[in-house]
Amino acid sequence: MLHAKPKRWVIGNWKMNPAIAESTRIIVQLNELLQTDKTLKSSDQIIIAPTFLQLLSVKAGLQGLSSNVQVSAQDVSRYQGQGAYTGDVSAQLIADADVKYCLIGHSERRALYAENNKILRDKVCAAIQAGLIVVFCVGETLEERESGRAEQVVLSQIEEVFECVDLTAWQHKIIVAYEPVWAIGTGKNASPEDAEAMHAAIRQGLVNKDSSLSQISILYGGSVKPDNAPLLATCPNINGVLVGGASLDAVSFFKIAQAFLTDGQSSDVPVI
Ligand code: PGA
Repeated sequence: MLHAKPKRWVIGNWKMNPAIAESTRIIVQLNELLQTDKTLKSSDQIIIAPTFLQLLSVKAGLQGLSSNVQVSAQDVSRYQGQGAYTGDVSAQLIADADVKYCLIGHSERRALYAENNKILRDKVCAAIQAGLIVVFCVGETLEERESGRAEQVVLSQIEEVFECVDLTAWQHKIIVAYEPVWAIGTGKNASPEDAEAMHAAIRQGLVNKDSSLSQISILYGGSVKPDNAPLLATCPNINGVLVGGASLDAVSFFKIAQAFLTDGQSSDVPVI
């Protein structure tokens, strides 16, 4: 299937935040902003990824207030179906709860939970089999960037997914999120030029695999804020953002969504 432009997304990754009362407050405020401001073409390209504990209450809060904002899991078990995997949530159980998206491979999962390529392949495979749309995160460390290996590292992380996912799934079920590890939660963001250069390299790497992958959405993440979002949104290969800290403030998150999803910015034809 050919597409005019990659679809744009603005995804809020709440990580291990916040408490229930605060989460309710953010959602109420976000809905108020969405309902009063008509500049956003559509809210179905906005996604919030809360903790598993709050996934369904946030989903209900968003639907109850008639917005199209979607929810995403932040992670998924490498094991499929149901069974004796204490603490895990499988892709099938996520899909059963009518949640359509999940993040996989976030650098915090890679670094703090030692999620290696084998584990991530299992997770992507499980998510695709359950019909989820995967936001697959890639990114280099500062050391890797300074030693000139950033592109090689990022492309090899993407290569791993080709081991377990066929072209059709790539075309319809994968969103790539480039998040330089040194820019996450540090207040340091990649310059729009550096981010755009990496996004262009990722797109070229995908096209080298198959020309049908030219329109995959590639998001940027790492200290995205309302003040740097407008410039990032002008970069042709940056098709949205994965926002951490700033997504915990409804006004900031909404402003970032406006930067990417107002009329002149949205895609004409969705990739997914
Ligand atoms: P940050 O996090 O926006 O707080 O840097 C981004 C992420 O980890 O997804």
